[in-house]
Amino acid sequence: MSKPRVVLGVGGGIAAYKACELLRRLTESGHEVRVVPTASALRFVGAATWAALSGQPVATEVWDSVDEVPHVRIGKAADLVVVAPATADLLARAAHGLADDLLTNTLLTARCPVLFAPAMHTEMWEHPATRENVTTLRSRGAVVLEPASGRLTGADTGRGRLPEPAEIFDACRRLLARGAREPDLAGRHVVVSAGGTREPLDPVRYLGNRSSGKQGYALARTAAARGARVTLLAANTALPDPAGVDVVPVGTAVQLREALLKAATDADAVVMAAAVADFRPAVYAPAKIKKRDGQEPEPLALVRNPDILAEAAADRARPGQVVVGFAAETDDVLANGRAKLRRKGCDLLVVNEVGERRTFGAEDNEAVILGSDGSETPVPHGPKEALADAVWDLVAARLG
Ligand code: C5P
Repeated sequence: MSKPRVVLGVGGGIAAYKACELLRRLTESGHEVRVVPTASALRFVGAATWAALSGQPVATEVWDSVDEVPHVRIGKAADLVVVAPATADLLARAAHGLADDLLTNTLLTARCPVLFAPAMHTEMWEHPATRENVTTLRSRGAVVLEPASGRLTGADTGRGRLPEPAEIFDACRRLLARGAREPDLAGRHVVVSAGGTREPLDPVRYLGNRSSGKQGYALARTAAARGARVTLLAANTALPDPAGVDVVPVGTAVQLREALLKAATDADAVVMAAAVADFRPAVYAPAKIKKRDGQEPEPLALVRNPDILAEAAADRARPGQVVVGFAAETDDVLANGRAKLRRKGCDLLVVNEVGERRTFGAEDNEAVILGSDGSETPVPHGPKEALADAVWDLVAARLG
């Protein structure tokens, strides 16, 4: 089989040097990569570096090697075009269909999945012009990753960093695996919760659970790869931010509820993969609770937390919004799952059997997805991403 052909477009930003690592990952994992930098990208990293790392000729203008008509051939032959870093200028030119250099020509001739990994200063990312360009590109089916937050070029920090090369590489692989299929969640906004809530007792102690967040992160990554704008409500996770995803950290169930109600207002789907504490301490001690010699500890009084899933399902922020829950059951999995689906009022419930065989934080999962229409979709033992994709298949079908 021939190697998958990837075009790596490089925009003129300081993060261009990070594209070298992305290029290495792509070539070392068996992809044929043609690097198409913009003229300003070459001010940061020279053509010799791109040519040496890719083993392919490098050109920025359509006037180079005209006899081969590369501006048409490169785009048409590609299985994936990834642009990293995508500058504000490049996003604008792509959104408006300009074709004033080899990369923008390639973007117009490509008929394969296109992935943009933006990097720019926070102000440029947040400017309405850039927001509109990103919306336009997404509505046409391109996947535009959300930039990461953190240290920018100078001493400043904020949203605008290029997502980590390893994360961009993963997004590339997922898009290639999906092939030229339409990104079926393009133009959709999905909200996913992940991890486990922590309910504080005092400044140093909490009631928590062992949820790693891996299933929720897999849902977020796969939704982004299918073209969705993703908001990930991350409850106490220790996982790297998935590329292309807007991550909102939360701590307690009450905070998760607030963040969810806010994010869900314009969401097409809400997926509650987080393990939410059913109860929280009735009283929060503002100072550390002390043990006293000869004294028995006070019994711990608890109060109920809101059922966020049931509330989201009952008061849909938007007509047609699809609401998905997760349930872990130890016995009578399907019967208990069905009862829970009705109780919660959601459209889909992903039911896992838990017990000694299941370890929290595992890479794999196995489940049955129950539908409010009576459907049952078994998902065999496999990576959490496969289960995530099965959930999105059902969500996409419901969204029409
Ligand atoms: O009731 P149970 O905890 O088994 O339900 C699990 C599902 O409900 C998960 O989707 C979880 O995110 C959600 N849930 C919730 N609010 C709670 C408890 C659970 O949204 N207080």
